[in-house]
Amino acid sequence: MGTNNLRSQNWFGRKGKDGFIYRAWMKNQGIPPDMFEGKPVIGICNTWSELTPCNAHLRDLAEMVKKGVLEAGGFPVEFPVMSLGETLIKPTAMLYRNLASMDVEESIRANPIDGVVLLCGCDKTTPSLVMGACSVDIPTLVISGGPMLKGHWKGKDIGTSDVWRFDVAQKLGQITEEEFIEAEACMARTQGHCAVMGTASTMAVMVEALGLSLPNNASIPAADARRKVLSQLSGRRIVEMVKEDLTLSKILTRAAFENAIKVNAAIGGSTNFVIHLLAIAGRIGVDLNLADFDTHSQGIPLLANIQPSGEHYLEDLYYSGGMPAIMKEMGSVMHQNAMTVNGKSIGENCAKAEVYDRNIIGTMHKPFKPDSGIIVVTGNLAPNGAVIKPSAASPHLLTHAGKAVVFENIEDYHARIEDPLLEIDVNSIMVLKNVGPRGYPGMAEVGNMALPKKLLEQGVTDLVRISDGRMSGTGFGTVVLHVSPEAAVGGPLALVQNGDRICLDVPNRKLTLEVSENELAARKKSWKPTEKMETRGYVHLYQNHVEQAHLGADMDFLKGGSGSTVVRDSH
Ligand code: FES
Repeated sequence: MGTNNLRSQNWFGRKGKDGFIYRAWMKNQGIPPDMFEGKPVIGICNTWSELTPCNAHLRDLAEMVKKGVLEAGGFPVEFPVMSLGETLIKPTAMLYRNLASMDVEESIRANPIDGVVLLCGCDKTTPSLVMGACSVDIPTLVISGGPMLKGHWKGKDIGTSDVWRFDVAQKLGQITEEEFIEAEACMARTQGHCAVMGTASTMAVMVEALGLSLPNNASIPAADARRKVLSQLSGRRIVEMVKEDLTLSKILTRAAFENAIKVNAAIGGSTNFVIHLLAIAGRIGVDLNLADFDTHSQGIPLLANIQPSGEHYLEDLYYSGGMPAIMKEMGSVMHQNAMTVNGKSIGENCAKAEVYDRNIIGTMHKPFKPDSGIIVVTGNLAPNGAVIKPSAASPHLLTHAGKAVVFENIEDYHARIEDPLLEIDVNSIMVLKNVGPRGYPGMAEVGNMALPKKLLEQGVTDLVRISDGRMSGTGFGTVVLHVSPEAAVGGPLALVQNGDRICLDVPNRKLTLEVSENELAARKKSWKPTEKMETRGYVHLYQNHVEQAHLGADMDFLKGGSGSTVVRDSH
């Protein structure tokens, strides 16, 4: 691409008053004009925030990106966007994913940016940035913040999946309050996002499998100097991408999405992957539906022995060969020719990868678990589908029928779960309503409801749990999630009553509420919405426009893109 074709020339190359203003207010930052005039301007879209602890080191990485951009003859400009930290934001970061994506989209389009580097890390910061960038579709490269180093406590390696185990242990009196608090600092001991294959790591793998990052982006630890190197190299590469006009839509083909689904199966990735990949596909205009996740996961076993589906941590994956080694193992099931940001195909990028530890990376013939990936179940309880991650479930519960123990919403669950009179046993199926996209609102990560203490004391570790909500990628259990349509819009989930028999049949992809059609019709007649609809602000906009989980929970008016052209562009 020649200098005159750069988007940024529409600002800095202008004559007259407009050009004067565009240039003068860059010069007030002490920037000599030859730094930005006629050079590819690279936006560094940063989700750094002290309220997003997983991304708190991203300004350091931004400096490395800047070095790389300058070395390659571009001009870097760092800009902030809304940052979504999983640990602090209430009621749930997912409520704001679409809002953050709007910020990203408009910030890129409205500014003199020729190419953009997306700096993300904590769960929602990746999909929100990629979604927003897709709706503009200029050359784009993603850098993840990288995982924390694994924690150590009392001689054991620990990570975020242990939070659930510590919670149970404390309830059962197996560890004290003091020990619980001591473990906090031992687990989160370095910069970076969760060290297990939670949603953040799953998203980092997703961008690598889609071809949106340089190789090894997903697993280099945040604290490892090689993440700085990757950032600097990414800075150099994005300048070349602008010259080649290698836009997002040239990389995000249907083949790239299928690769990402297969890779997600091989790593035992988070169920949140489904929601986010559907939303990204919707923005870039690739036809992807819920059934594709099941179809393309089939036959892919678990190759990464990483928690919560396995035993180890992201840094172990890196030392064992990283994602290039896993994708090479997957060989012919991958679309090898899919293009990536470095201008090479995914097959070329992985060709020289080696596996250094077979305890961490398995083979297609000798995997860690035969069944992995996402399974989509449908039936009269989930006409538009629901998802389950078998690699994190108890095998004996994948075919199970039992009586429903129903919680009308998350407050009802908290109020009654420890009630000694609650009728619940090892065969029960826990049902949680009104935690979906519109109902909660924002689709809370509460689907893996903790079991009551009285069952834990009996040694029960898992029950079938069904909801219209989500589950943390670090969570586990036989948990059916994303039931669509959700209860708050009158989906069949809203009609389930205590004691109803439900049958989960994962091998046959079925989820059945064993109640007669007549009875369900009668219940539907008397059903009334119970969840509050906001009357102002962003939540009002969100509740009125959010789509159901099986479509990716994006807002209906955000689907697709508006390109990079600014319609009205004079002062
Ligand atoms: Fe940020 Fe887990 S809390 S990645």
